[in-house]
Amino acid sequence: MLNKLLFHQFPNIKSLLTRLQYEFISTLNLKKDVLFMNFGYTAHHQGTDPILLDEEEEIHRYPMQLYHHVAKHIDWKNADALEVSSGRGGGAHFIVRQFKPKSYTGVDFSSRAVEFCRQQYSHLNELKFQHGNAEALAFPDNSFDVVVNVEASLYYPNITKFFEHVKRVLKPNGYFLYTDLRYEEKVAIWHAQLKSMGLKLIKEEDITENVLKAMELDRERRIELVNTYIPRLLRKQFLHFAGLASDSSNALPHLDNRRYWYFVLQKA
Ligand SMILES: C[S@@+](CC[C@H](N)C(=O)[O-])C[C@H]1O[C@@H](n2cnc3c(N)ncnc32)[C@H](O)[C@@H]1O
Repeated sequence: MLNKLLFHQFPNIKSLLTRLQYEFISTLNLKKDVLFMNFGYTAHHQGTDPILLDEEEEIHRYPMQLYHHVAKHIDWKNADALEVSSGRGGGAHFIVRQFKPKSYTGVDFSSRAVEFCRQQYSHLNELKFQHGNAEALAFPDNSFDVVVNVEASLYYPNITKFFEHVKRVLKPNGYFLYTDLRYEEKVAIWHAQLKSMGLKLIKEEDITENVLKAMELDRERRIELVNTYIPRLLRKQFLHFAGLASDSSNALPHLDNRRYWYFVLQKA
């Protein structure tokens, strides 16, 4: 309830709190078991074959599948790509290995996350990370073939500014691969804001059920992470943040009455 009030009425305060929350997360001495910070995706229950992963990647299956679902629709050959809000870089690393773009730059406003990524993925020349703000992207016009954004724009106080920058930095014919969630009553406004960017809509899909199913299948691991890294006093809040009712109840994970969508758009 408080969360929703802050999102709707005080987006700047909500953004500041979120920023502090992510900075706090990045002080936690997280290990390699935390490379993603999204809710995940699955379509196995609808008959789709799971993507093939190495054994050590299995723990990241559902968050990786969200990146795969978003990225699989375009040709990545020779692409220069930008990911805005790349977090701890798991998605960037996955796309680089799976789809082999020419270059991939991850930007995040958490300097600790950027520092972590620089160390973690230093062996890949085509993958770079830098500090930056989604609402003031410091790149020249027409510089990327692809812009990726996964489960982050809900925290940007001025989404229109972000969309303007995405359009500006995309080359003509470049793609915007975008996925995020919004409270049900805000979905129509969000779609209208996206439409007013003036990009061509190639694909859109409500993937809420797929995300909820992934959260259900990944529940134990996510509870374990909260219990491992978050101080006892803050666990309840973080469980809620992670869409988990509590570590003892069997209640299904939730998205707090929000719908999860993904989009493929193209600059004309
Ligand atoms: C839920 S995490 C998702 C990270 C990553 N996309 C993933 O799926 O693992 C949201 C990320 O957005 C970043 N973020 C929030 N507001 C931002 C802004 N204004 N500019 C850049 N990054 C931002 C946070 O630091 C955090 O890393």
